[in-house]
Amino acid sequence: MKYEPKQFESINGVNGLSEKLMKEHYKLYEGYVKKANEIEEKLKTVDLASANATQSDLRSLKLGYSFAVNAIKSHELYFGNISGNGSAPQGWVGSKIADTFGSYDNWLADMKATGIAARGWVWFAYDWQNGSVFNYLGDQHDAFPIWHATPLVALDVYEHAYFMDYGVARADYIEAFFKNINWNDAEQLANSTGMDKM
Ligand SMILES: [Fe+2]
Repeated sequence: MKYEPKQFESINGVNGLSEKLMKEHYKLYEGYVKKANEIEEKLKTVDLASANATQSDLRSLKLGYSFAVNAIKSHELYFGNISGNGSAPQGWVGSKIADTFGSYDNWLADMKATGIAARGWVWFAYDWQNGSVFNYLGDQHDAFPIWHATPLVALDVYEHAYFMDYGVARADYIEAFFKNINWNDAEQLANSTGMDKM
């Protein structure tokens, strides 16, 4: 399939994250979209007979493809997540968080600390197999996702997401992220996929 970059209001800057930072971040996202499409084209003519696990064109393309596609999906979630006013979640997502973590504040503390412990991402995700929600840590776009789990919130903690505005003060950036969190998107995703009926 051909990937197209989506538009997000948040790339014009949000409370505590500058327009310059968000626009630079968006350029990286556009780069992942471009690469995913480029790799798909190359896969059409790649030599399958020379596939090799140490080094081969197929291996290199497939590794790059997983990296690019998960980067696209995570950034699309992220840019949407960061377009709100930071209020607490309502509806199914809010009650799922309260049931699992005891309170929204407990969830927030876990998510923020996981953001400090991660080297790339935190994904707040729902696992369809056992009906649980969890703040999963990811060190790369493509190395940690959980099968059958759907992320509802993606927090980007790569340096490129904050260094320009915050230097190494990652905790301050994470605070800014949650000042802008938009739970409507997460609730809509839960409703549209039927997660809330499980
Ligand atoms: Fe990013």
